[in-house]
Order: sequence, then C-alpha cells, then structure tokens
Amino acid sequence: MPEPDLDSLVYVSSAVRLLSFDEITYLLKRARERNKEYGITGVLLYIGGNFMQYIEGPKNNLDIIYKIIRKDEQHTGLILVSREAIEGRQFGDWSMAYQTKDVESYVGSPSERRLIEMILELPNDNPSAARIALHGFWDRSGS
Ligand SMILES: Cc1cc2nc3c(=O)[nH]c(=O)nc-3n(C[C@H](O)[C@H](O)[C@H](O)COP(=O)(O)O)c2cc1C
Repeated sequence: MPEPDLDSLVYVSSAVRLLSFDEITYLLKRARERNKEYGITGVLLYIGGNFMQYIEGPKNNLDIIYKIIRKDEQHTGLILVSREAIEGRQFGDWSMAYQTKDVESYVGSPSERRLIEMILELPNDNPSAARIALHGFWDRSGS
C-alpha cells in the first residue's frame, strides 16, 4: 500500500562548533527515537562542520520534525535546498542514516556505511532533486 501525503526535504546547515563523537551519538539517538514515533526516515551527512540532511514522511509530521531541527542551537544558517512531494520513501529502512568523512565523528558499522555510500553514488537513471543534492554534497565535501 502506498502511503498518502508523503513529503520530503533537504537542507544544509553549519554546526556552531565541531561536534564530538558523543554529541553526534546523542543527537542521532534522540533524532531516531523521535523519527520512529513520527514515521520520519532519512539521512544525515556531516562533513567538515557542515550538515546536509534529507527527511521524508507524512507532510504534517515532516513539518513538526523540521521545526524541531530548525530550533536546535547546535547548528545555524539553515538553507532549504529542496522540498517535494514523493510517491515512495527512499530511506524507508532508516529512522536516520548517518554518514561522515570525519574520523572523529564516525558513528555506525562499516556495513551500514557502505550501504549508505552506495545510495549516495546515484544509482538510478532519474534521480530526484534530493538525491542529486545529497550526491553533490557527499562528493564535493571533505577529502
Ligand atoms: C543536524 C541536526 C539534525 C537533526 N535531525 C533530527 C531529526 O532527524 N529528528 C529529530 O527529531 N530531531 C533532529 N534534530 C534535533 C535533535 O535531535 C534534538 O533536538 C537534540 O538532540 C536535543 O535533544 P532533546 O530533544 O532531548 O532536547 C537534529 C538536530 C541537528 C542539529
């Protein structure tokens, strides 16, 4: 059964200071708990002090979660890159996938990392604006 009213967005932002492994771990724990509750899935990229995040889910819940994200004082300068209705989820298996190129904020298993890396490599012929943005950020940021 397709889910009705699915919406998605991508934003970029900058961390107010470099976040440690523990801080990222806590952020992800809280984000995943809340995302599960609200039916939100997505991916968070964190490279060189900058974030790009993609979130998807029922439109009303997406608005609630995005409001919570915007209020978080650990980051600033949020710019909405894309917002679009979607037919189906692209990160349905992840309450919040996470990927970084920075050793000090590495969180997650190697197999999880490889899987997310493959998704960021733009596999399909007709990628969404969100996919293109994620790919660009991943490709151009960091080393
Ligand atoms: C870059 C970034 C991404 C975030 N992503 C999410 C998210 O996907 N879902 C969510 O509920 N909160 C998200 N947050 C908010 C934090 O998880 C949360 O507000 C923070 O850890 C404070 O936790 P608290 O809710 O216990 O006060 C994000 C915050 C930042 C800075």
